[in-house]
Amino acid sequence: MKLLMTGGCGFIGSAVVRHLMRRTDHVVINVDKMTYSASEDALEEARGHNRHVLLRSDIADADAMRQTFATHQPDAVMHLAAESHVDRSIDGPAAFVQTNVVGTFTLLEVARHYAATLSPERRAAFRFHHVSTDEVFGSLGPQDAPFTETMPTRTKLNSQNDNGNELRHRQTDRTVKIHTAHNRTHTHLGTHTTPDPAACSPGSAGPYRAVR
Ligand SMILES: NC(=O)c1ccc[n+]([C@@H]2O[C@H](COP(=O)([O-])OP(=O)(O)OC[C@H]3O[C@@H](n4cnc5c(N)ncnc54)[C@H](O)[C@@H]3O)[C@@H](O)[C@H]2O)c1
Repeated sequence: MKLLMTGGCGFIGSAVVRHLMRRTDHVVINVDKMTYSASEDALEEARGHNRHVLLRSDIADADAMRQTFATHQPDAVMHLAAESHVDRSIDGPAAFVQTNVVGTFTLLEVARHYAATLSPERRAAFRFHHVSTDEVFGSLGPQDAPFTETMPTRTKLNSQNDNGNELRHRQTDRTVKIHTAHNRTHTHLGTHTTPDPAACSPGSAGPYRAVR
């Protein structure tokens, strides 16, 4: 299978790339703008691998995305590119809107036009997987029951983008019949992460997000 992955040089994306290179035969087209949170070191073992192609592109650049889909003909998209650090969403929200909202919208639009060009079999098998966040559920008080996956989402500042993106994905799924999926990821810990001071808040997993 050929996967078009966005944000594959970030903390979670690079772990997924390493996993895919070590444990599968899948080809990865890794689209990453290489922002401050990208790490080339995290991709050391994938560099030069014949199943890994790194493209330095912005997901909000529709022409570049159209060309990428047309050239590489992916079977599925794994969308992890994001502005992801809570503290930065408060100090500079514009980059969040540009990448997380405009970029995700652009990627979905290009994907649905691309899917329309596929054979019925390939189109039925095509998937768009969005890595979202558990923060779309909002915050729990000390007396609140745990969240469940069927609960309505209750957005807060740093998850507003993900919440809106999930709605757009669901609409795309229903109206133009691209299969989309989200997973609402909890905080991860591991190697190759970028410190996120906001993750030090009470109840958080700590100053560093996941690493493996
Ligand atoms: N890390 C966690 O613990 C955690 C928890 C919950 C949800 N998530 C979600 O998982 C996803 C990935 O998180 P992460 O921790 O790997 O983030 P990260 O900040 O480490 O990596 C993001 C990657 O996206 C790239 N990128 C940013 N803007 C781009 C653009 N416009 N075009 C192309 N690439 C761009 C960056 O260069 C970087 O490589 C995010 O949506 C995040 O909200 C992460």
